[in-house]
Amino acid sequence: MLRIPAFRLLGRAGASRVSLLEDFSLRHYSSGALCVRDDTGDARAYFTTPIFYVNAAPHIGHLYSALLADALCRHHRLRVPSAAATRFSTGTDEHGLKIQQAAAAAGLAPSELCDRVSAQFQQLFREADISSTDFIRTTEARHRVAVQHFWRVLKARGLLYKGLYEGWYCASDECFLPEAKVTRQPGPSGDLCPVSLESGHPVSWTKEENYIFRLSQFREPLQRWLRGDPQAITPEPFHHAVLQWLEEELPDLSVSRRSSHLHWGIPVPGDDSQTIYVWLDALVNYLTVIGYPNAEFKSWWPTTSHIIGKDILKFHAIYWPALLLGAGINPPHRIYVHSHWTVCGQKMSKSLGNVVDPRTCLDRYTVDGFRYFLLRQGVPNWDCDYYDEKVVKLLDAELADSLGGLLNRCTANRINPSGTYPAFCTTCFPSEPGLGGASVRAQAEDYALVSAVTTLPKQVADHYDNFQIYKALEAVSTCVRQTNGFVQRHAPWKLNWESPVDAPWLGTVLHVALECLRIFGTLLQPVTPSLADKLLSRLGVSATERGLGELYFLPRFYGHPCPFEGRRLGPETGVLFPRLDQSRAWLVKAHKT
Ligand code: MSP
Repeated sequence: MLRIPAFRLLGRAGASRVSLLEDFSLRHYSSGALCVRDDTGDARAYFTTPIFYVNAAPHIGHLYSALLADALCRHHRLRVPSAAATRFSTGTDEHGLKIQQAAAAAGLAPSELCDRVSAQFQQLFREADISSTDFIRTTEARHRVAVQHFWRVLKARGLLYKGLYEGWYCASDECFLPEAKVTRQPGPSGDLCPVSLESGHPVSWTKEENYIFRLSQFREPLQRWLRGDPQAITPEPFHHAVLQWLEEELPDLSVSRRSSHLHWGIPVPGDDSQTIYVWLDALVNYLTVIGYPNAEFKSWWPTTSHIIGKDILKFHAIYWPALLLGAGINPPHRIYVHSHWTVCGQKMSKSLGNVVDPRTCLDRYTVDGFRYFLLRQGVPNWDCDYYDEKVVKLLDAELADSLGGLLNRCTANRINPSGTYPAFCTTCFPSEPGLGGASVRAQAEDYALVSAVTTLPKQVADHYDNFQIYKALEAVSTCVRQTNGFVQRHAPWKLNWESPVDAPWLGTVLHVALECLRIFGTLLQPVTPSLADKLLSRLGVSATERGLGELYFLPRFYGHPCPFEGRRLGPETGVLFPRLDQSRAWLVKAHKT
């Protein structure tokens, strides 16, 4: 049987093959080779989103982070059908000064604010079809146990000491900043106020005795890890940026705050006068979810892929791996980094009043429509701009007209009156252009189409591996256009089922187009799960025929039987994706304002 090129890399090894750095010593650390599994094993994978701050309601940037992780995870599940092989966690980051201050400003107890906003994230993710297997809240008891255990391990390894910390602290970003990263900007009263150079958020001077982590000892191990695994941080420019940062000074890191100043957090074990730094607390969530400190976490940890935004790269690519190494655990397998969404050219912010509510968008554009938009337009390497007309234009062109139109053309009763997957005729479309005689109807462009769709699943898988989901969607969209060109070229509506000359070619044209649609539907499942389900159901593709492992395009062309040939199509369930066009009341309103 013809094999579609096998999928390359299924993420890091089955955990059983990878040993953790039980006895980590800075001198002996080496990154170790990645273990690669093929698509026959039950390769595990553990995907994580950042945990979201609960100081404000979710916006489209948060949804984007979660969607990227969801699409990667769903793609993995299609490669490795055993559901038990995949975990996908998300959650809310509920401790720290930022939340303490937001609750005070709202006149709420911190726990009330956390419950309220965490529920909003949970509801958004349910509505957006985020297929997470775990939702963690850092205020849960299981998390406190994990964080305090992690702390004790660092302490026992001599990596924490008490010292005087003096410097700038930015509560909005929950981070310490050196003088060089602080600038002055006019505040509300016109006076110059110190702000973070990177985020523009206000900073305040802090001087207190804290616990300090020996981060400075980890510069070389981190460099070895990154040089030994050039894909550890993907896309490459972010990997490069972290290596650059590691060329600079790497001072020790303050990892606790005075409880009198920060009470909303996890106390330092054995010292109630100190609260654990919220980033240490938050990062450990990735371990809590997989059962840390119980040994079960070891079977998942080596398969971890973190999906994060570029603003939190330093925390995930420097602090976190260093803390992990300190605790005797390897750095995560992959850190996938994405850029940000701006709105009409500006950073999204409450004060500018331009925050885009993701639930309104899901409502307007449908869940699958908005998922498709964000993942098709979002480019990890640089920021993307959001505006409503862009969504309408893209969805109308690619989902309603191109994909929906193609399905309609091949299944409409007028053209496909028997409502089946017609037979493929090898004399009309021989496997090589030179073969066959006068009855050959296929043209050079048709061979180009077959070749493009044959290699599409592999191309898409490679784009997923490189965290370029938008490129995977672009490749699918190009093939959809090519298939429409094929149908247009052969105008099946001009062919006659009654004619013995036309009928085999008419059946072949529809067969090829339906085969293309089957591949597109299968490949779109991670991004538009409901729309893909509708499409595949209409084609009569059963639930067990939708995986990537057995995805063979046009087997009849390659001389093999096609299980779909002659099969009845599924029931007609209406338009695949309705046009959103300009007549929508909300859009007219948006234009006027
Ligand atoms: N709580 C920390 C993460 C701790 S993870 C151990 C945090 N939370 S956040 O709510 O501020 O951000 C969560 C994610 O949303 C981050 O990946 C961040 O990059 C992403 N985004 C925030 N604004 C965004 C855009 N405007 N566009 C795209 N993603 C954005 O940081």
